[in-house]
Amino acid sequence: MYYFVERMTEDDIEQVQMIERASFSTLWSANTYRHELRSPATSRYIVARASPTPPPPRPERPALRRGLLASLIPMFFGQQASTRDFPIVGYGGVWLSVDEGHITTIAVAPAYRGRGIGELLLNGLIDQALDLHADVLTLEVRVSNIVAQQLYLKYGFRPAGTRPRYYTDNGEDALIMWTDPIRSPAYQEKLRQLRERLFARLREEADEPAPLHN
Ligand SMILES: CC(C)(COP(=O)(O)OP(=O)(O)OC[C@H]1O[C@@H](n2cnc3c(N)ncnc32)[C@H](O)[C@@H]1OP(=O)(O)O)[C@@H](O)C(=O)NCCC(=O)NCCS
Repeated sequence: MYYFVERMTEDDIEQVQMIERASFSTLWSANTYRHELRSPATSRYIVARASPTPPPPRPERPALRRGLLASLIPMFFGQQASTRDFPIVGYGGVWLSVDEGHITTIAVAPAYRGRGIGELLLNGLIDQALDLHADVLTLEVRVSNIVAQQLYLKYGFRPAGTRPRYYTDNGEDALIMWTDPIRSPAYQEKLRQLRERLFARLREEADEPAPLHN
């Protein structure tokens, strides 16, 4: 399967909420998503889709708007009406506060985990944060969520304290994580290397069939 990311639209909310229900114990309303999607100056949401064939090429857009990742490997980035036919297998969002990009959410449908889609989404969110002129990235993650923490550590997020009893469903603490400046040459070089490895992995995934359940 081929996996690619594109901006979330209001038509996508229902599919996104199905993945959300399978991934989190506290849920956002459709109105919350609509509000976020209608605030593109500070909020960006993306979806990952699965396609059995290479996704249609996106129409040419000015290089500045396309982001580093999209300009490097355009085949993994779709942007056409016809891509709506491909099922959503993950989603994520980033919110800008002054110069900080806050990763607000990221999830992959359970049957599609472990195939590089979470990483593809995080890269898409980093591109969106760069487009919003964020200088650093931050997020909160449950202290027990080691899988997500591993993904964030891989992308240079570092633990920087906790928010006690942050999660209202079970009173769990949140681990706060921050990156170094994402525009620094060191971070950009790290990103370049990670993306090279990710795209090699996704090229291998392209030959794999879809999971049996989604
Ligand atoms: C966290 C999540 C988005 C990762 O998505 P994914 O598509 O399964 O992850 P990927 O296949 O892209 O893996 C990327 C990295 O994540 C980490 N990771 C993924 N699965 C892992 C596992 N089972 N154990 C440990 N680390 C894991 C690794 O660092 C991995 O890199 P590697 O393959 O080089 O080891 C996914 O597990 C998910 O949706 N979880 C539920 C929702 C959630 O917890 N979201 C985070 C909220 S803060």
